[in-house]
Amino acid sequence: MRIIFTDHYESMSEEAAKIIAAQLWLKPDSVLGLATGSTPVMLYQKLIHLYETVGLDFSQATSFNLDEYVGLSPNDEQSYHRFMHENLFDHVNIRNERIFFPDGLADDAAAEGMRYEKAIEAAGGIDLQLLGIGRNAHIGFNEPADCFTRTTHKVALKGNTIAANARFFASEKDVPREAMSMGIGTIFQARHILLLASGAEKAQAVKDTWEGTITPAVPASILQLHPHVTLIVDREAGSLLTAKGKELA
Ligand code: PGA
Repeated sequence: MRIIFTDHYESMSEEAAKIIAAQLWLKPDSVLGLATGSTPVMLYQKLIHLYETVGLDFSQATSFNLDEYVGLSPNDEQSYHRFMHENLFDHVNIRNERIFFPDGLADDAAAEGMRYEKAIEAAGGIDLQLLGIGRNAHIGFNEPADCFTRTTHKVALKGNTIAANARFFASEKDVPREAMSMGIGTIFQARHILLLASGAEKAQAVKDTWEGTITPAVPASILQLHPHVTLIVDREAGSLLTAKGKELA
């Protein structure tokens, strides 16, 4: 596990962009696991800038998104599909046929979960999985629970996640109550995991994830067991890490 301390959101985004760009330069046909939310927005802007200025090439890359809301079509303004197109895909040369999401409209969630797992496997597995972290240390939509989830599955969102995501919707009641999400097991199989955290509201989750007990009550804590995790924090998100957490860097 490696931790990179940065000053603020922009420098966190800059460091993350360098890692993703290096991944694509070293292996142009990389399989990326990508994330939505506020955290990666500037990182995506920086990748677009690298595409425009130095020709960072996405033409052979494949992408699998972590999750999608249940009940939203890909064209829905609030869908993660739409988010990714607006924030990254429409501005770089990734090919449409290499962009994958869990289907939020699937009738049979179990079959859809299996289809998604098989698609990841057929692509050769995820080389680099990007993650944000929830205030409750969720990753993807894997909420605190009694056991770690394994594969892509349907989840019921927790009240605090619904409240946190309400900022993207007209009101809290419009936030879907369910999502399809990669499981912790799916995430764990990625060869390299890049976890980003910015802002004081993530500080406790970062501390619990990095220094705390490994428990499904803190879903991201399982990343302590993964052989290749890079955590990038800004000053506020890293503010509660103790000397022990810093030593792990
Ligand atoms: P955020 O969400 O990037 O919008 O803070 C992260 C998450 O909930 O996983």
